[in-house]
Amino acid sequence: MEEAAMAGLIVDDREKNLFRVDRQVFTDKGLFEQERQKIFDRCWLYAGHESELAKPDDFVTRQVGGRPLLLTRDQKGGVNAFINACPHRGNMVVREKSGNSRNFTCFYHAWSFDTAGALIGVPGEDAYSESFHRKDHGLARVPRFESYRGLLFVCYDANCVDLVTYFGDEAREQIDHVIDSAAADVEVVQGAQNYSMRANWKLLVENSIDGYHGLPTHQRFFRKYLSDLGLQSNVTSLGSTDSRGRSLGNGHAVTEKPRHMTGLTAGAASELAAQRQLIEQKLGKERAHKAVDFDRNVFIFPNLILISTWRTLRTFYPVAPDYMEVDAWALMPCGESQGLRQKRLENFISFLGPAGFGTPDDVSGLEGCQRGFAGGREARWSDISRGMAREQPVATDELQMRAFWRRWHALMQDRTEPIACGDRD
Ligand code: FES
Ligand SMILES: [Fe+2]
Repeated sequence: MEEAAMAGLIVDDREKNLFRVDRQVFTDKGLFEQERQKIFDRCWLYAGHESELAKPDDFVTRQVGGRPLLLTRDQKGGVNAFINACPHRGNMVVREKSGNSRNFTCFYHAWSFDTAGALIGVPGEDAYSESFHRKDHGLARVPRFESYRGLLFVCYDANCVDLVTYFGDEAREQIDHVIDSAAADVEVVQGAQNYSMRANWKLLVENSIDGYHGLPTHQRFFRKYLSDLGLQSNVTSLGSTDSRGRSLGNGHAVTEKPRHMTGLTAGAASELAAQRQLIEQKLGKERAHKAVDFDRNVFIFPNLILISTWRTLRTFYPVAPDYMEVDAWALMPCGESQGLRQKRLENFISFLGPAGFGTPDDVSGLEGCQRGFAGGREARWSDISRGMAREQPVATDELQMRAFWRRWHALMQDRTEPIACGDRD
């Protein structure tokens, strides 16, 4: 897309407090290709959790940023991220989703590799010349691979800033809050939710930090179901001033509101109180308060969302402009009673599970938008200006989405320097 056309895709008028996005961004095939290079080839991407590789020789495979990845824990305890493609002629070396194996044998000609990626077996090796050395044919590593508090990220741009710099202080603090809301370590529970939608991936970015849609889209859950169970919800009004929507810089964002989803952990009050005490001892009262007493959706640009209410970690990747694949995992505190773990798992699946109370509503909403975009030439703009004139936007405003769009727009125009992304910056 030409420079001027790209610049015109977003109107960000801070005098008039108007923000709108050209609906081409959800449908255009050329833009979709450019996103691959400018967003997914440049940014740090969530790939997995260290707890998925608990023991030596544990492995998982998955698609991350369009590449087949193989994550392993090697014999020395190190964690590795390889491209899951055979150095011989390219076949996917590991076809299972996860498991434990001391070595991997390629399906095609049976070259084999250990969990540190070294080539350890070549059938009929004597047919190769003296210039063939096993050490030159190990599994290719991703250019950048870092861990933050157990969260594993890859980056396909060797020149990218380090992961912690990429987060910036504020986003890092929010990730800490999510992890620190558990008294012990956290782990990804075995099994994942994998589903897809006929919608552009950026619609799910918006939706994941969209407090405005909660009541109308999920009426049945928030108004009917919870009250039938005698539970209270903190999604009760559109302007609740105790909630916040914030830009965290560099496109990262958060929505926060005081936690009062009582009942979801009913019956576990004493266990939770004991956990709370441990957290306070570890972090002090103030940090413990921030970690434990708020529900938050933390968005890490471009496509990771941590949803504390449901203890969900979710990523999603575009397959086509109008199609995305979603992966979600439960990030649970270790060492809890079986009863509390069970309740948390039920909670994890009951709202945001693919067939839960929330996700089908959201899928319907997002696929409906995508169908509407077929008329994008005539009905051209999406309005994302809610709360723009407000000094302190709340979670039902749209500042957090503007933060995403500002970073997206900058990267698409090759402006890769860190930027603040708030309304007043
Ligand atoms: S492609 Fe893997 S051994 Fe030939
Ligand atoms: Fe929703």
